[in-house]
Amino acid sequence: MELDINVSYSVEVSEDKCPMIKEFFENIDSSHEGKIPKWRIAINKLIKRTGSLVQLSHPLDYGDMMNPECKINLYHLLSSLKHLNVTGDLVDIGCFDGKNSAFMGLLMVELGIDAHFYLYDHFGKGYGRNVSKQTVMDSFKKFNLRQPTLYENDFRVSIPKDLPDTISFAHIDCGHGGDKNEHADIIVFLLEHIYPRLEKNAVVIMMDYTQGVRKSVWNVNPGVKIGCDRFFANKPEKITELYGGFFAQGFFRKQ
Ligand SMILES: C[S@@+](CC[C@H](N)C(=O)[O-])C[C@H]1O[C@@H](n2cnc3c(N)ncnc32)[C@H](O)[C@@H]1O
Repeated sequence: MELDINVSYSVEVSEDKCPMIKEFFENIDSSHEGKIPKWRIAINKLIKRTGSLVQLSHPLDYGDMMNPECKINLYHLLSSLKHLNVTGDLVDIGCFDGKNSAFMGLLMVELGIDAHFYLYDHFGKGYGRNVSKQTVMDSFKKFNLRQPTLYENDFRVSIPKDLPDTISFAHIDCGHGGDKNEHADIIVFLLEHIYPRLEKNAVVIMMDYTQGVRKSVWNVNPGVKIGCDRFFANKPEKITELYGGFFAQGFFRKQ
């Protein structure tokens, strides 16, 4: 079935059915542009004139691990679940502070996806600041969202034990910037347990997935592609790389 994402956007967002998503879309340009100081724009223009592809960019803000491009992809993919009548619960593997999980929770409410949301993280150190279960719950409270179920454990303890039986959407973002082969093993381990629980047409987003072709993408966790290549070698699905600006992102839809 072909999905017309423009139609879904015009129906759900333009008709004021999703006020918070509408506000998000309407403010994307300004919030994104507003972060770039004028001096950096000027320097980038000068560099461009030399023919170089190098550009000064905004330093990574550890408080925001997803940019507007990735959020737009989330919106369209979550919205497709509704259009294809995919049932099952949602899981976010590697939720960190829950800020982006709460954005997904918001999309669920505004798109009318009535399912439970499960989050997983061991809250290990190494992301610039410490977060806890309470940080995540506060992120949901901020938008008056129903509290998700959070499993605070290493994935090797919580998966597959604490996974729901049927899954319509999974967001996998468990990068630690460490050894790529170790990371690839975790990716394969997670996919092995999530894949059989996916409903037909369910969506799985793989954060940090890139084929490395686009030069401006930050290939911070090459283990994601290594793990996906290994897992999908004998599967009918293939990962599609998404445009996520500076961030790498891909997805597949279960056949
Ligand atoms: C890149 S951050 C996730 C960012 C988050 N998805 C967001 O959008 O803000 C990766 C998260 O995965 C978690 N993580 C990594 N390896 C893990 C493991 N083996 N078990 C549990 N959590 C893990 C880390 O604690 C970290 O919070």
